[in-house]
Amino acid sequence: MSMQAEQHMYQQGVQHLCDNGLTQVPNKYILPEPERPLNVVDDGCINLPIIDFAQLQGENRPRVLASLSKACQEFGFFQFKVEVKLCELWMWMQVINHGLGDEAIGKMIDVSKRFFELPFEERQRYMSSDLHAPVRYGTSFNQNNDKVFCWRDFLKLSCHSMQDYSSLWPSSPLDLREAMGVYSTKTQHLYERVMEAILESLGVTNETAIFEQGSQLMMVNWYPACPQPQLTLGLPPHSDYGLLTLLLQDQVEGLQIQHNDKWVTVKPIPNSFVVNIGDQFEIFSNGRYKSVVHRVAVNSMRSRLSVASLHSLNANYNVTPSPILIDDSNPRLYQDTNYADFVDYLSSSDFK
Ligand code: OGA
Ligand code: NI
Repeated sequence: MSMQAEQHMYQQGVQHLCDNGLTQVPNKYILPEPERPLNVVDDGCINLPIIDFAQLQGENRPRVLASLSKACQEFGFFQFKVEVKLCELWMWMQVINHGLGDEAIGKMIDVSKRFFELPFEERQRYMSSDLHAPVRYGTSFNQNNDKVFCWRDFLKLSCHSMQDYSSLWPSSPLDLREAMGVYSTKTQHLYERVMEAILESLGVTNETAIFEQGSQLMMVNWYPACPQPQLTLGLPPHSDYGLLTLLLQDQVEGLQIQHNDKWVTVKPIPNSFVVNIGDQFEIFSNGRYKSVVHRVAVNSMRSRLSVASLHSLNANYNVTPSPILIDDSNPRLYQDTNYADFVDYLSSSDFK
């Protein structure tokens, strides 16, 4: 195959590559040795601190806020147990049926998998290398710039925003728009409640509006089973850009976070969300809560699906440390920054 034909093939994504039969990871995906995920199999699993959302709504709120604050400071990540807690939260949001929480989550995972199993020609209709496209099927981390490609395909959907984008979402599978619409609305509500709690834990009570008017983006990540998972990564080490990410993962391990200079694998808990702070919130909190670096390892046996609901301030809104969190003993640590700066940075550089 000519070099050009080969490059063209990588742009079409990992699933397409695998569909055509593959026993080895192509060079394009092989990381330099120091960046490879050593001991993929032996890496320890951790359970993240669990925050009980139902308790948060009751008389134990101060105690839960304190443990939430501890989880944010130690990990930047925490995991909500959904079985009981989110159902109750949604009941509070006037969703009556107890089982409904699990159903929305189950449908989201199911329809996402069916999207990635569509014939390539169907998926290809949503391919675009334009980082700004509101609906985009793509591959790797930034396929315009990455020297080494990541073992990931994704469907990016713009959701909650000034504009309703759902008419641009894929029209097949036939139930995709409905299932993803329900899911994105519910996660947006959850985000708002979680953000409220996080702000309260910081003692910030007067700046809540800007966090609700922000934007929501869903990244549906697909990591096909990989013949040599020790040579490549599903996502390179990165921190999330926005305020807060609500991540749903299926039962396959892969998410790893950097903790005490080691990579630890987050043990998936069914029907739960991994919640983590992004860069914008680290800045807003003047460093009290940290945006933690994480990456994704891939698996030789099973393909993996995750859905990241990314909540950010509106584009062009400057993020700035909250004045309440700055004083003589906590000097200001960050410059203002906005989304345009970030996209410019992303478009111009190889990810590092
Ligand atoms: C992301 C991300 C983790 C995962 O989409 O930013 O970190 O497990 N995803 O897919
Ligand atoms: Ni991430």
